[in-house]
Amino acid sequence: MSTSMIAGAAAIAAAPKTGKTPRVFERLDDWLLTRATLEGSIGFVPTMGALHAGHASLIERSVAENEFTVLSIYLNPTQFNNPKDLEVYPQTLTRDLELAETLGVDFVITPRFDDMYADGYRFQVDETRFSAELCGGHRPGHFTGVLTVVMKLLNLVRADRAYFGEKDYQQYLLIRDMCAAFFMDVEIVPCTTVREPDGLAMSSRNENLDTAGRARAATLNRLIGSDLSDEEVSRALADAGFDVDYIVSRDGRRFAAASLTCGDRVVRLIDNVPL
Ligand code: PAF
Repeated sequence: MSTSMIAGAAAIAAAPKTGKTPRVFERLDDWLLTRATLEGSIGFVPTMGALHAGHASLIERSVAENEFTVLSIYLNPTQFNNPKDLEVYPQTLTRDLELAETLGVDFVITPRFDDMYADGYRFQVDETRFSAELCGGHRPGHFTGVLTVVMKLLNLVRADRAYFGEKDYQQYLLIRDMCAAFFMDVEIVPCTTVREPDGLAMSSRNENLDTAGRARAATLNRLIGSDLSDEEVSRALADAGFDVDYIVSRDGRRFAAASLTCGDRVVRLIDNVPL
């Protein structure tokens, strides 16, 4: 477990409970019955679980800006191009529900695959340009999985606002543009990346870093925020033991993805900074 997770768990234990236990829905038909009764603004935070301080900041913002907050915890298999990556993705449902309660979430949906993909993934949302670049260039099918599940979740929740972290900046842009393209009546709210004190972007995947990997991981943020060129950053990361997918500066940001091998696990880290 990473230091942020330990700090996160301690903060959860110390935080006063809101006194409101969220209602948890595994069955989507039950959720839809409850959704039909809700009157008031709804904020939505979609997640794959293994919640950390970054997710907490999205939830806090939703709670502050809306009458109801809905959290989804769904480890979406269709966005994993690599089965091994899915296998080792951390799952911490009990702790996630405690955090949801602490932060004042009203509803949590934890759907089952058969309900989410009753169509057998026959229908998919494809974006044909940007989704093939950056992370999409290295993870075939990833953004089709993301956009499809986000479309399903947005249709299920019918939120006024949905909150996404800027760490996944390409994901945020694609979701924002998908909602505009399909005239979806939801505001997509980008939220600032939450970082560890040494600059490492909070991520559920950080749980899979071992001590040596964790010590090296912040190098990614340090180097992409430096004056070095993309090529120089890429070389410096390789020298520091990273397997670099890409370092690309475009549209006023520098985007990065690189992996560290920690024992039998490959931990893929992504980050971006404004230039
Ligand atoms: O960013 C994530 O955690 C996931 O890609 C999302 C948006 C919850 C879709 O599964």
